[in-house]
Amino acid sequence: MEKIPYEEIPLIEEEIKIYKVGDEILREEAEEVKNIDGELVDFVKKMFYTMYNNRGIGLAATQVGLKKKFFIADLTLNQEPGKKLVILNPVIVESEGEEIGEEGCLSVPGVTENVKRKERVLLRGISLDEKEIEIEASGLLARVFQHEIDHLKGKLFIDYLSPIKKALIIKRLKKQRKQEGW
Ligand code: NI
Repeated sequence: MEKIPYEEIPLIEEEIKIYKVGDEILREEAEEVKNIDGELVDFVKKMFYTMYNNRGIGLAATQVGLKKKFFIADLTLNQEPGKKLVILNPVIVESEGEEIGEEGCLSVPGVTENVKRKERVLLRGISLDEKEIEIEASGLLARVFQHEIDHLKGKLFIDYLSPIKKALIIKRLKKQRKQEGW
């Protein structure tokens, strides 16, 4: 298997607001990234800081209010250096197998549910230094890729649950949102 194109990126210690269930942006489709400038790179640095602070392993741009097609990931929760991934304009070009596993999401606080995903995927995209990248992933990394790409299409993992279960979760979160004021 080819080397995974991890990025060396310092953090900018500024937390960005994470949008949550009920916020319209989570249901909107992101737009292709056409230009990688310093502003975007700084935003990515803040995204990593925000993701680590909230103990997430993946974060899509739309979750932090930017309607652009990219996501970041780090399966180690910043416990190992040099495991940061930034994928711009990601597309899954091949996939195989199925696997059920537990998922959560920073935009769906406090909820974990089993979701069926492809077991292996081949992902294509662009790195932060504008190189075309291709990553073969399986297991948790493949799951994160599918989850984050869904975000960029306006889809959440709770959409895979039964309508009853999904409605209950949304109702509970709506109540929680009101009580906690987020
Ligand atoms: Ni998510």
